[in-house]
Amino acid sequence: MNILIVGTGYVGTTTGLIFCEMGHKVTGLDLDDHKIRSLQEGNLYFYEPGLAELLKKHIQAQNIAFTNHTEKAIKENDVIFLCVGTPKGTDGNADLTFVRKAAESIGQNINTYKVIVTKSTVPVGTAELVTGWIQSKQTAQIPFDVVSNPEFLREGSALQDALNPDRIVIGTESEAARTIMKELYKNFQCPIVQTNPKASEMIKYASNSFLALKISYINELSRLCDELGINVNDVSQGIGLDERIGPQFLRAGMGYGGSCFPKDVNALIQIANEKGRPLTILERVVKVNEEQPLYFINKIKDALGGELNNKTIAVLGLAFKANTDDTRESPSITLIDRLLEEQANIKVHDPIVKLWPHQCRTVEKTISGTDAIVICTDWEEYKRINWGKLKPLMKQPYIFDGRNMLEKDQMENLGFYYIGIANY
Ligand code: UDX
Repeated sequence: MNILIVGTGYVGTTTGLIFCEMGHKVTGLDLDDHKIRSLQEGNLYFYEPGLAELLKKHIQAQNIAFTNHTEKAIKENDVIFLCVGTPKGTDGNADLTFVRKAAESIGQNINTYKVIVTKSTVPVGTAELVTGWIQSKQTAQIPFDVVSNPEFLREGSALQDALNPDRIVIGTESEAARTIMKELYKNFQCPIVQTNPKASEMIKYASNSFLALKISYINELSRLCDELGINVNDVSQGIGLDERIGPQFLRAGMGYGGSCFPKDVNALIQIANEKGRPLTILERVVKVNEEQPLYFINKIKDALGGELNNKTIAVLGLAFKANTDDTRESPSITLIDRLLEEQANIKVHDPIVKLWPHQCRTVEKTISGTDAIVICTDWEEYKRINWGKLKPLMKQPYIFDGRNMLEKDQMENLGFYYIGIANY
């Protein structure tokens, strides 16, 4: 099948390349010339493990091409995936400007029957809006169907997630479109949930919100564990082994960030409020998440004598999680802002993210002369550091582990004062 991907961010690019792997021909459409040029030359303009190699492979095999010619791209393809951004709007709702623009372009250029698939995370009811936006620009009555087919991939493991999904959700009222979608996904082994567009859109928001809920639950519980001197990691393990609960997304830390959880939880809260059925449980999820970095800062402050001015602190990790260069809603940034408000001197490091020109290149340089280290991102390389060797570089050997990634006993044996998130 000839597939058009509108929007070549990490969801669009990953989706396109996965379909290439499945033997389809793919065109990536984006209005950003810089992105198109970069991708066409085989250069991924963002960091996502394994994707650059796949991009080069399919460019070379001519299975994927990138363009900014909207009219030609729409006319030449029968299945169109909308993978454009849906950022958080000023009112908390998802901003559908890019989805609308893409839908209107399809309406203007549609020449044969097409299936339009929303992959972007969109509010419940968007499939209907997309249908209306396409129709509003049509000059002739050419049939089309709209399908909701949400993406569940994670940054940092996008490729693996997209190749091995837990499930595929197909939301459409059209039998013809459902058949085409099933054909597209015929090589995947996982269950397919077939439903209508609204339920499909809800599944995406409800999944992300539930995962965020698990994280906020363990984070709030970690504060109680701290009070009681209980190791929260043991609690996570103990409850996670119950198959009804499951072990994932129970890692206590500094809170969730990224481009999805904060945006999607808020959007679902907004939808619920608009319908007069508030999801108060999710309101608390957001609040706990906002509190978590501040809770950690207070622990840092207490341990360092109540004042942070004139203290030099090394912050390790800027990305919202490991294996990505994304800093959107990163708890690390919240922590840095707060440390600066408290007049602390900051030195920062991240293996991939470069936000400031004066940023240190190595962990050694970052921690030299500091009073404390705060680990904010669970980069594997921080685990492998020879901490014993680096300790003498510090003014005071305090280490605050906001991701519970180091062993408390080991760090203490090396002479560090170690404080994690209820990590005993
Ligand atoms: C998420 C969803 O997992 C994915 O299905 C959806 O398509 C997009 O949103 P992503 O934002 O890339 O993916 O990252 P994810 O791995 O889910 O982590 C989100 C945040 O939660 C990160 O800040 C991470 O550090 C945090 N997290 C995750 C925890 O604090 N504890 C955990 O146990 C798991």
